[in-house]
Amino acid sequence: MIAEVLKVFNKLDAKDFRMLTGIEIGMKYFEWVPIEELNKYTKLPFDKLEYRLKKLLRDKLVVRTTQPYEGFQIYFEGYDALALNAFVKRKSICAIGDEIGVGKESVVFEAIRQPELAIGELLPVIIKFHREGRTSFKQIKRVREHLGEREHFSWIYAARLAAQREYDIMCKLYPQVSVPKPLDQNRNAIVMELAKGSLLSKTKLVDPECYLDEILKQVKITYSLGVIHADLSEYNIFVSEDGVQLIDWPQYVTPDHPHADEILERDVSNILTHFFRKYDIKRDLEKVLEEIRSGEKIGSDSVENGSRGFEEEDSKEGEFEAEEFEAEEFEVEEFKAEEFEAEEFETEESEKSTSKKET
Ligand SMILES: Nc1ncnc2c1ncn2[C@@H]1O[C@H](COP(=O)(O)OP(=O)(O)OP(=O)(O)O)[C@@H](O)[C@H]1O
Ligand SMILES: [Mg+2]
Repeated sequence: MIAEVLKVFNKLDAKDFRMLTGIEIGMKYFEWVPIEELNKYTKLPFDKLEYRLKKLLRDKLVVRTTQPYEGFQIYFEGYDALALNAFVKRKSICAIGDEIGVGKESVVFEAIRQPELAIGELLPVIIKFHREGRTSFKQIKRVREHLGEREHFSWIYAARLAAQREYDIMCKLYPQVSVPKPLDQNRNAIVMELAKGSLLSKTKLVDPECYLDEILKQVKITYSLGVIHADLSEYNIFVSEDGVQLIDWPQYVTPDHPHADEILERDVSNILTHFFRKYDIKRDLEKVLEEIRSGEKIGSDSVENGSRGFEEEDSKEGEFEAEEFEAEEFEVEEFKAEEFEAEEFETEESEKSTSKKET
């Protein structure tokens, strides 16, 4: 669990991060990174390496095998620690709070960020740690296509590529499409603004027609920008008095995808089914799809207009009120970034080791 990472994070020093990065580099070429390679990547002598490895093994940031030779892999938690260190160092976050969501392929934490130029209030953000390689072979297969000729594959690349893919598409869509503002990405993790309100699945809307129109409008803008969400449902939409926000983008496709039509239809159908079952609102799927594809305006209202009353249905998981994020009430672990420059080290060292590929 990442909660374990948070406990040990502040105890990690620059050499621990160097070790983790060394294993990370080695995993590009080896399923299990031999200790001799770590010596090359980290420039640490063997006795120091052994001490560091014991510490990382104890903290469950690293895993070891002895067969067919002694080798090491980073755990997701070790990878999370590297991403977290990068975010702290870049001042993308200054503290992390509780886990607020677990998806099939991610774990999401609330965090806070210093405002620009350190003026004004702390900003509530979230960190989404991708978990693709561990839980979904389908996703691995999908990401594998992006890997091209790379000889060795590990979950690290699946999770990193999914995070990169999600971050890049959110940057492309924001702000035309209503998505939480993407703020930073490193390895398997993304920092983005906290979505406003609560999940559509957990909310009882007072004016559902208006929200349905707004969601379909967002789908249409997204489509006009050459993107289809591909996992749209009441579980990936936040609703608030300000409107709607669409989350969870790594599986998006473009309209030239061989199944683009079916995927768009499934997205829209999920939404219409939700509004039909919960609010008895009927819309003709074909007509809605036609409108989305035509680029014509859907519905009568825009976000800014009309009454947008809503109530939260499930107070346990739906509660997301801004007040909760006031500094004193927000339980956080403050982090210090380690000096170690992971990125520079990686580039330098990975170039040197390209000749050492495993077959
Ligand atoms: N920007 C955000 N603001 C607030 N909560 C968020 C945000 N992003 C994600 N979450 C929370 O984390 C949960 C999981 O996030 P997300 O849907 O992006 O991940 P996922 O693993 O792909 O989910 P799944 O595959 O199960 O749909 C969401 O259901 C939501 O509760
Ligand atoms: Mg989701």
